[in-house]
Amino acid sequence: MFGRYLNFVRGVATNWWGRLGVILTTSSFVCMVVMELARLVGLITSSYAGLVSYMVFPALFILGLLLIPIGWRRLRKQTGKSSRELRESKFGKEFGVASFGGSRLFRTVAVLSVVNIVFLLIVSSRMFAFMDTAEFCGTACHSVMNPEWVTYQQSPHARVDCVQCHVGEGAEALVDSKLNGLWQIASVTFDLLERPIPTPVHQLRPARQTCEKCHWPDKFYGHRLKTITRYGHDSASIRLYTTLSLKVDAGTIQRRGGIHWHIAQENEVRYASVEDKREKIIWAEVLRPDGSYHRYTSTDDAAIGRDALSVRTMDCVDCHNRATHIYELPDRAIDDRIQKGVLDRSLPFLKREALHAVSAGYVSREAAMEGIANHIHGFYQRHYPDLARSRVMTLDSVITVLQGIYNRNIHPGMKIEWRTYPSHIGHVGEGGCFRCHNPRMVDENRSAISSDCALCHSMLSNGHDDPFQYLRPADTLSPDYQMHLYLQQEFMTSSKSNGP
Ligand code: HEC
Ligand code: HEC
Ligand code: HEC
Ligand code: HEC
Ligand code: HEC
Repeated sequence: MFGRYLNFVRGVATNWWGRLGVILTTSSFVCMVVMELARLVGLITSSYAGLVSYMVFPALFILGLLLIPIGWRRLRKQTGKSSRELRESKFGKEFGVASFGGSRLFRTVAVLSVVNIVFLLIVSSRMFAFMDTAEFCGTACHSVMNPEWVTYQQSPHARVDCVQCHVGEGAEALVDSKLNGLWQIASVTFDLLERPIPTPVHQLRPARQTCEKCHWPDKFYGHRLKTITRYGHDSASIRLYTTLSLKVDAGTIQRRGGIHWHIAQENEVRYASVEDKREKIIWAEVLRPDGSYHRYTSTDDAAIGRDALSVRTMDCVDCHNRATHIYELPDRAIDDRIQKGVLDRSLPFLKREALHAVSAGYVSREAAMEGIANHIHGFYQRHYPDLARSRVMTLDSVITVLQGIYNRNIHPGMKIEWRTYPSHIGHVGEGGCFRCHNPRMVDENRSAISSDCALCHSMLSNGHDDPFQYLRPADTLSPDYQMHLYLQQEFMTSSKSNGP
């Protein structure tokens, strides 16, 4: 068998083309098998190796197969002999003699073709499976995907594969995504990619086919108590709590009032925005039970008279646009690290100085690393020289943590700065929920989409050292007495009506 193969190989390796073809096919085949074995026993784990064994080698293998017939044709042209004459001179007469099941040559070619096809099928199915792993998506085009990979690994979805949100199920999705993937590989190779990668992402599958495979709107979420911890800019970096009871639940037609109302089965909210960013809204409308739409139009100068560039039905990602690729704001990142205990609040003015250190504009990553260290050392050496000497280790660890915050959120190579990808959950400035929930979004009766502070959350504390400030008995002498009572009662009644 092997001898026959060698004989055959010698026959097809006629000229330069044929020889190159044989070398490519054979060597890439052997390499792929060896790498696959190494991967199976765990010797190879890098996704670059996957890229080579599932993409480069198969490509070389196929190229080799193509070169062989090209070589054959060239040979025929050069020698002017017929195929039959050539066959006989190359493989010997007896090789071409017809017998049961065709000539030996024919059988060799047939067997090799079947082997090739089976082999390519196995490789391509392995390749597709490999291309669906988060490691591949996150690290194969390292320079480009690194920001998404970094943020993904620290997100609630770190165990969900990229393709479950980006591709969804079904053949159409698969083909779409592979074409898109090829385009991406090409654009990375030829550096055609826009930086930062523009959002919103249009190729995202509808949330019904992705998010709703795991979370569905009619699931009962109830209210969610959330305490946000912040630290002040004073010397003690004082701790302050804001506690919200978020009314997440979709509610029901009879009893409205929940955040997931927008995407409940029977509801539909559509909106049009000025630009593709979906940030400046022109109008938003709600489907009425009679099938008509109730429209609210923006009276903002920036929106009046503008053509609707993109009209969209709201789904999960209109609010959860940062479900996984969560970029932090500098002060929130620092608050988070203090709360986790990795930044030591006993250093005077820690919060204020840490914020200065990370958010100063730096021209490059190297400049930032140096600048952060210089700022922290400089500040404590100038104002607290004793401390700078006695707590060298603490200061070094502060610097490392702050450099970590910078590296997680800022990616100069992809032009990702603070606030490049704002989150739509909540309302920083006029964004997030306040894109629609603001007094300037009015219907024909001039009544606005509600921005009542208790529409979306009860408030149990607002920047106070007591996380349940408003649940305590109200002080009749305080100027906030009325508000205190109102917030307390609002929480009691909204919690009570939560449920049938
Ligand atoms: C839980 C779902 C989910 C998972 C898992 C997920 N993504 Fe995303 N991704 C999104 C959503 C939603 C957006 C859209 C953001 C927008 O349109 O503003 C997005 C946007 C992106 C973008 C555009 C840039 C940006 O930050 O908005 C890239 C690139 C990306 N994802 C890559 C990946 C990679 C690589 C992985 C796996 C390592 C991954 N995603 C995993 C949901 C997900
Ligand atoms: C394959 C299943 C899966 C898919 C698809 C998925 N998620 Fe999740 N999601 C989860 C799991 C599991 C958690 C809980 C993680 C935990 O509690 O640690 C979660 C958590 C969440 C949370 C709560 C995060 C928090 O801070 O507690 C939100 C919001 C969320 N997902 C939104 C989305 C959105 C939006 C999409 C679609 C773009 C999506 N998910 C797609 C599995 C999924
Ligand atoms: C694209 C526009 C738009 C955005 C963005 C938006 N909403 Fe709404 N929301 C609406 C409209 C329209 C209504 C219904 C107004 C009415 O009562 O007719 C509504 C109603 C609500 C209600 C009341 C539901 C009910 O049962 O009556 C809540 C709560 C709510 N939104 C919370 C939020 C939160 C929280 C966010 C941000 C995370 C948000 N919305 C973002 C358009 C929007
Ligand atoms: C109108 C904006 C909006 C839309 C649309 C929306 N959500 Fe949410 N969702 C929120 C807000 C606000 C919260 C509470 C945020 C928090 O806990 O910090 C939330 C919370 C969640 C949670 C966590 C619940 C918990 O109790 O921990 C999940 C999971 C979730 N959403 C999934 C989804 C999915 C899936 C969709 C689409 C079917 C969706 N959301 C649509 C605004 C929205
Ligand atoms: C349309 C819904 C909606 C309305 C109206 C609304 N909020 Fe919020 N608010 C949210 C959501 C959602 C969050 C984000 C919670 C989170 O971080 O997950 C939030 C967060 C907050 C926070 C915490 C911010 C932080 O991170 O420190 C404060 C304070 C707050 N809201 C105050 C208000 C006040 C005051 C009003 C009235 C002017 C108001 N909200 C109106 C939805 C709303």
